Amino acid sequence: MSLVDNATPHMAKDYDGVIRATIPFYDLMQSETMDLIETLKPDVACWLDTGCGTGHLVEMALPRFRDALFIMADPSEAMLAEAKRRFANIAPERLKFLPPIGSAAIAADILPCPPQVITAVLCHHYLDEAGRQRAVRSCFKVLARAGVFVQFENIDFEEASLNQNALERWAKYQKDQGRPPAQVESHVRRFGTGYFPITIDEHLELLRRTGFATAGMFWLSHMQAGFYAVK
Ligand SMILES: C[S@@+](CC[C@H](N)C(=O)[O-])C[C@H]1O[C@@H](n2cnc3c(N)ncnc32)[C@H](O)[C@@H]1O
Repeated sequence: MSLVDNATPHMAKDYDGVIRATIPFYDLMQSETMDLIETLKPDVACWLDTGCGTGHLVEMALPRFRDALFIMADPSEAMLAEAKRRFANIAPERLKFLPPIGSAAIAADILPCPPQVITAVLCHHYLDEAGRQRAVRSCFKVLARAGVFVQFENIDFEEASLNQNALERWAKYQKDQGRPPAQVESHVRRFGTGYFPITIDEHLELLRRTGFATAGMFWLSHMQAGFYAVK
């Protein structure tokens, strides 16, 4: 049984302190998302962040998208508690929390508005194939017409040597950031055990098969890829 209070290897209360030492260019992934949405949906009025974790993405987005209501969703109560602490001073017209819920269970009748943007950052790679399909399908269904879905995930390069090289680079990154070697080794062993990456082509194929009119990749660094799709 997992000793942590969410699907990541970090306790929710420790997440913000350790995530940048774990994921290379974490802040850049989020700011690139801001840039993408400022380009494609600058007037977004309703934005769902599923797998919101402690809420860093929405903290970045709140001052940049002043007309938007942000809906926060995550299956981990502990993560939602951290996010609620972060946003204690934000007006309820700007921010709504769903009860603990995974993406697959999100449906229109529990949302306060139809999202024109849905972000899912590093939160669907914990799912198996069927679970991932359900998660993406639910996001597609509740997304408004012409809405934009953004997803980041750890990916599989398909070729064993490419994965090995990428994992070694990732381990080096974490050690350079000061993470203890035993934690780094345990993190590297999560590939295919603690999270279940699929290839870039499989991502694009799933997005198209789900019904998105357009699907592309807009970010790749180390083993993290960012995709966006338009309904
Ligand atoms: C690595 S954290 C990412 C958090 C946040 N998006 C960020 O960028 O910092 C992964 C998050 O995914 C959530 N998660 C796990 N399974 C999920 C699912 N089925 N649907 C949505 N979120 C999920 C976890 O609770 C956790 O908060």
